[in-house]
Amino acid sequence: MTPSGNTTAIAQAKFPVTLVRWQKKHGRHDLPWQQTNDPYRVWLSEIMLQQTQVQTVIPYYSRFLEAFPTVAALAAAPLENVLTLWAGLGYYARARNLHACARKVVAEFAGQFPADADTLAKLPGIGRSTAAAISVFAFGQRAAILDGNVKRVFCRVFGVEGVPTTTAVDKSLWLLAESLLPKKDVAAYTQGLMDLGATCCTRSNARCNVCPMQPFCDAFHTDRVNELPHRKPKTKLPIRTAHVWLIRNKDHVWLERRQACGIWGGLLSLPDAESVRLPAKATTLPGKAIRHKFTHFELQAEVSRYEVQTAPSALNRHRELAAYPLSEVEELALPTPWRKLLMAELHPAP
Ligand code: ADE
Repeated sequence: MTPSGNTTAIAQAKFPVTLVRWQKKHGRHDLPWQQTNDPYRVWLSEIMLQQTQVQTVIPYYSRFLEAFPTVAALAAAPLENVLTLWAGLGYYARARNLHACARKVVAEFAGQFPADADTLAKLPGIGRSTAAAISVFAFGQRAAILDGNVKRVFCRVFGVEGVPTTTAVDKSLWLLAESLLPKKDVAAYTQGLMDLGATCCTRSNARCNVCPMQPFCDAFHTDRVNELPHRKPKTKLPIRTAHVWLIRNKDHVWLERRQACGIWGGLLSLPDAESVRLPAKATTLPGKAIRHKFTHFELQAEVSRYEVQTAPSALNRHRELAAYPLSEVEELALPTPWRKLLMAELHPAP
């Protein structure tokens, strides 16, 4: 809950003006997507930035624009090409939604992104906060954002207690976000929220000594910067087990492409043990075991490794089996644990 009373009222009055002034002087102004208000570019950047840091996004953003300069070009591309360009950014549902959204904008909005946040929020992959960011940056509208970084800033400055992802706290944070929104300078204000969260009010090692909110920050004055926002109690991830085959033929590896649906829809993967038959003369190599934590489960996989001279045959007619050069592993749309495993094939540890 937000502490009521004088201190909060003062902080609420000072926050927007302080942020706008700070953003203009100390915020970021030359990120690639700040050089435009083209809705397509703004949208693309916001989707990429949802779960990925600015420095990682920059090269992907330029490669995407080169390959797909317009929403129409993206919509016309096969999903496979989009997934391939996304390879390495992770959270592949974003890439599938990106593609679905482009197709919807072309089919239902004549290739023009809608301007208002409520309509944007109905498109695939665009949540309430992303919709607001697009409508502010591309269309100059007035709408409130609230992503994980902004929640952290609010929880600290306004001393909001409770876990921000719970419904009640989330609701009060949205109300706060709406009530703080200034009448003018909304773009600088919105960018300021992002900049403050990324450069001052960071999760660990917050730089309170250079933060413009320090004079009225509740967490700072109550010595709770490292305590707020309150963290969700850790729950154990469910474990999924798998038995996969790493089948090599010299410098090539056999991979299967999954169908478009399901968690790894459209991505390449090591074949499941039961989905391929090895050729008669396969040499068994030492096996491996891997563990990898995804957002919603932990994968524990047993990896059997083989060297073959002739092609294995596919037993699952819904999955395409093909050999890929190991040297191209970095550019393939592969879930992270498989990418790491194959990178280790390419560059074995000494
Ligand atoms: N994170 C989310 N959107 C962003 C943006 N437009 N600039 C920098 N970081 C962001």
